[in-house]
Amino acid sequence: MHVLAIETSCDETSAAVLRSGVVQAAPPKPEERGHVPEVDVPEPPAAPEILSNIVLSQDEVHAPYGGVVPELASRQHIKTITAVVGESLARAGVGLGSIDLFAVTQGPGLIGSLLVGLSFAKGLAYYHKKPLVGVDHLEAHLEACFLENPGIAYPALGLLVSGGHTALYFMEGPLSCRLLGKTRDDAAGEALDKIAKFLGLGYPGGPVIEKLGRAGDPKAFPFALPRTKDRSLDFSFSGLKTAALKHIRERGLAKDDARLPDFLASFEEVVARTLVDHVRAAADRVQPRSLVLCGGVARNTRLRTRFQSLARGSGLDAYVPSPKLCTDNAAMVGAVALKKFARRPDPSTDLDLDAYARS
Ligand code: KG4
Ligand code: ZN
Repeated sequence: MHVLAIETSCDETSAAVLRSGVVQAAPPKPEERGHVPEVDVPEPPAAPEILSNIVLSQDEVHAPYGGVVPELASRQHIKTITAVVGESLARAGVGLGSIDLFAVTQGPGLIGSLLVGLSFAKGLAYYHKKPLVGVDHLEAHLEACFLENPGIAYPALGLLVSGGHTALYFMEGPLSCRLLGKTRDDAAGEALDKIAKFLGLGYPGGPVIEKLGRAGDPKAFPFALPRTKDRSLDFSFSGLKTAALKHIRERGLAKDDARLPDFLASFEEVVARTLVDHVRAAADRVQPRSLVLCGGVARNTRLRTRFQSLARGSGLDAYVPSPKLCTDNAAMVGAVALKKFARRPDPSTDLDLDAYARS
């Protein structure tokens, strides 16, 4: 079975073709149309094979503004989606007629951007008379880990750190996760992006902070670990961001300052420590069998290293996707769609699927 997945939730236009061994459901008999049977189909035994996963970044479009401009993002998706989908099929060596299932990100994300991918996917599925599965973007990020490691033991504790979200999930089994805590203000990636913007370092901020901070001393600047007053597992990064902006102003830090590597390393360090401390607290509470880290910020070496050492210290297995599966990509969307379809094989094309901006 082949799935063509489309992801346009923010500023990456992505399309992927995946192949799984799941047997396609037989079309329903006429009298059953409109009724969706709950068929107990086993989970795919192995991870699907990624035949292609094309990601076209819009970084160059948004960089001059220091962040994503929603209207420009949706216009850019419109311009590029046909070519990106075409390239994903060409690289996979699969024609549209051989696609058995279409998958698309429904939300959360920028509503205009989401609608581009959703409308495109609907058009393809309708024309080819094939099922269309809507996928939650956050669920897709969590799934990225399982694409490379299908045998991750449940229950798993998942930390999702992206540009728009910072959240902890308790994953009891496939397609079943419970939110344990999330950010009350800025996401971790957003804080990195805002500091980089303030210093005029460009967009996205995470990679440039990582690059410039590599040679710095992470203890040079004294940042207090942000804490929420109650016992909740929620995050808060806006206080940390304000403290960083205060340092920049008071010490007159600029783009070409010799102290910049130390400053950036210290900021990155406190962000990584805060994230990992939350994972430790959550793990103590829910006693998972494995730990999973995902989202764009999971590309960060400092965070990956701290996360792995927490796992080693706790005797848990830890999983982080390879860098290209951390940032937004359609392969993770296709992987969720295959699991959803295997569980509920509805062969009709759902043209009522709608996009949602917030989860
Ligand atoms: O998951 P993602 O691609 O998009 C969203 O769903 O938001 O994450 C993008 C975020 C941005 O904030 C970017 O600065 C951050 O991931 N990021 C990084 C690194 N690479 C990307 N943050 C820290 N270190 C990196 N190497
Ligand atoms: Zn994302």
